[in-house]
Amino acid sequence: MLTGKKILIGVCGGISAYKMCTVVRLLKKQGADVRVLMTRSATEFVAPLTFSTLSQEEVIVSLWPGSTHESTAAGVRHIDLGLWADVMVIAPATANTIAKLAHGMADNVVTSTALALRCPLVVAPAMDVDMYEHQATQDNIAVLKRRGVFILPPDHGDLASGLIGAGRLPEPETVTEYIRSVLVPMPSDLQGKNILVSAGPTYEPIDPVRFVGNRSSGKMGFALAAVAAQRGAIVTLVSGPVALPTPLSVTRVDVETAAQMHDAVMSRSRASDIVIMAAAVADYTPGKVEPTKIKKQKSGTELILELTSTTDILKELGAEKHGIVVGFALETDNELHHAQEKLRKKNCDMIVLNSIRDEGAGFGTDTNVVTLVYRDGRTEPLPKMQKEEAAGKILDAIVALSKHAGG
Ligand code: CTP
Repeated sequence: MLTGKKILIGVCGGISAYKMCTVVRLLKKQGADVRVLMTRSATEFVAPLTFSTLSQEEVIVSLWPGSTHESTAAGVRHIDLGLWADVMVIAPATANTIAKLAHGMADNVVTSTALALRCPLVVAPAMDVDMYEHQATQDNIAVLKRRGVFILPPDHGDLASGLIGAGRLPEPETVTEYIRSVLVPMPSDLQGKNILVSAGPTYEPIDPVRFVGNRSSGKMGFALAAVAAQRGAIVTLVSGPVALPTPLSVTRVDVETAAQMHDAVMSRSRASDIVIMAAAVADYTPGKVEPTKIKKQKSGTELILELTSTTDILKELGAEKHGIVVGFALETDNELHHAQEKLRKKNCDMIVLNSIRDEGAGFGTDTNVVTLVYRDGRTEPLPKMQKEEAAGKILDAIVALSKHAGG
């Protein structure tokens, strides 16, 4: 999705410099051309060789030619790079570099290039909480914002110092998503819409240590939430247990069981213009949760689990029908027929049909192959694409449906 985009990464000397290795890898995977510039202190945290291997380009550490990792070209490289880039990203941006940027200083390859740019600049502050909250840093950030610099705010959490607070560089997926949103602006056709998305599996406890679950990774639902937020929606994401970072500007509600997901979704559905049930909600749950760990009986004995059915959230949403309701269907056989049945029975506006038989579709993959199934009998098969791209197509269809419904 970033094919041909030229991205300059300026790495400063902060502990989270290591996260930028993954960012470079993710950007390259999406087809971008990436060049990495490092301050001297950044090289204390990550070796230039790591970034040059990941970016498949030389890493520039100095304005002057001469050292092992630097080219022998003349010293106008910061001007050339400033002209070359479609976006420059300084991450982690230390308090020192932010202060220099605010004052237009050009004392190393990162700050000099930032001054010679003809493209958008993204700055991701990352430092200890007291340095971040210091009035001097906040004033410098405000200066950059006024100048049109895109600021990716730090996460709140455990810091290298042992303190807890704002200052963590967001996870690589979030940094990458932010860069993409600056480079490839999205339409704002969901501006102000309240969208509720469910994602991931549910875990139904058997005893204190075991559960019945499924293989859903949550990636499709998270991609929908991320892209909807980028298109201006106010997004709430109800997530089962997954190992994914929260997309930017999305409110996340974590749940574990089908019953908790039911309550979290139904209590928010009335206030939502659009509900998308991408979660793989358990259809059955153990009727009784053992209070203590079930012990192994002697070999040859059977353990029978009694399961009772859960409430079908999508069906309940369809019965109440406050806004647009979209469901997912994962099928292994007679796919279209089953999806059309589901659409009718659950009174949805659209079903996104996944066939587990399609190569590149299903659990844990980054791609998906889906068919959109509509109420009027239309079906729209989409080719294999990245889950973010599929999310964009699904949201395009939802926008068209809401226009049709006069919303
Ligand atoms: N779903 C739900 N609540 C449940 C089970 C499923 O809201 N208790 C939703 C899912 O989020 C999805 C859709 O229903 O959007 C389809 O789920 P799926 O499991 O494919 O369909 P089922 O109706 O459960 O039918 P079956 O498992 O027999 O295919």
